[in-house]
This record gives sequence, C-alpha cells and structure tokens, in this order.
Amino acid sequence: MKKRVAIFISGGGSNMVRLLEDMALPGHAAEPVLVLANSADAGGLAKAAEMGVKAVSVDHRPYKGDRPAFEAALQAELDQVHPDILCLAGFMRVLTEGFVAPWEGRMLNIHPSLLPKYKGLHTHARALEAGDKEHGCTVHLVTPALDDGPILGQARIAIEDGDTPDSLAARVLVQEHKLYPAVLRQFAAGNTTPITL
Ligand code: GRF
Repeated sequence: MKKRVAIFISGGGSNMVRLLEDMALPGHAAEPVLVLANSADAGGLAKAAEMGVKAVSVDHRPYKGDRPAFEAALQAELDQVHPDILCLAGFMRVLTEGFVAPWEGRMLNIHPSLLPKYKGLHTHARALEAGDKEHGCTVHLVTPALDDGPILGQARIAIEDGDTPDSLAARVLVQEHKLYPAVLRQFAAGNTTPITL
C-alpha cells in the first residue's frame, strides 16, 4: 500500500507539481490524494486537476481570523481522503498547534532559507542584507513553532554579486524543485536521514 499524500498550496504550486511528477515515477512509496489551496484563485489547483489529482479550495477569508474554524474546514477535507503525509508547498497560512499537533512527524514544509536562519518571510532580502555568502532552502518536519522542526534536507546556493531578492528566489526555487521531491521520496519510504544538495 502506498503512503497517501495531501499537499497544501497557496499559489502557483510549482513545488506541488514537482512532487506529483516524482510520485508518478516508478518506485515511489507514496501517491497524491489531494491538493488543497486556501484560495480558489490558486493557479496550482488547475495544474493538480490536469494531473488527475483531487483539487479543492478552502478559502481562509470567510473565517475572518478564526483560525480554529478555518483549520476544522481543512481537517474535514483531509478526513475525506485520509492522508498519511501532509506536505505544505508554498502554503502561506500559519497553522495553530491545534492543527499541527496531530500531524507532528507526518507533516513536511519547504522554507526558502537555510534554517534555522531566516524563519518567517522575506528570507532572500534578509540573506542579502546580512551579506551572507550562501543561501538556500530547507525541508523540515512541521512543529507548532514556525519554521522550526527537525530538518529533513537542505540545498545550498552561492549568493552572487548583483543578486537581488528576485534573482535569489528564482535560483532557490530551482533547488526547491530538486530537494522537496528527493526528501518526500525517501521520507515516504521511512528514511529521515537528512539530504544535502
Ligand atoms: C516560493 O517562493 C517558495 O520559495 C516557497 O513558496 C513560494 C511559492 O512556491 N516555498 P510554489 O511555486 O507555490 O510551490
């Protein structure tokens, strides 16, 4: 039996697409069962549907900041497909401990920095402002603390003269698309040895 994977997105879902593509290849221990976006406008929903995966949206805005109510709606969608693993992929909503705790150890996220550096937003600008020589992305297990869980993989790039937040984001995204599928492939097979790219 393959592990069942649900993926949360907020936008174009480029990481989600790479995860679906890799799960479609031979030898993968997991299969996608749901792509969920917190907005019906998320471009990734159409991509997931085109790839044959159930794609739904649960808009966070009607809940007006009532995070537990929004998260109950998320969990209701998950209960219909009973996933084993939850992947956050460009998901831009903070999840409370109440949602995260039951998923701890089975929930992954990709963050565009070399954690523990630059938790939160604007990671590329912060790395540039700090004068860092390298930057990158991290896949980690999700815990209630934001961008803080055990690291499952990292990919590093050199920061080059003239880099801007946008040029850095573009090069980091290329690495995300390599790292996240590699981590999920081995995680689904029960291997949590950190990957370094
Ligand atoms: C990207 O900036 C990536 O660094 C972060 O989420 C953003 C959108 O990713 N993980 P995606 O294209 O929606 O996967």
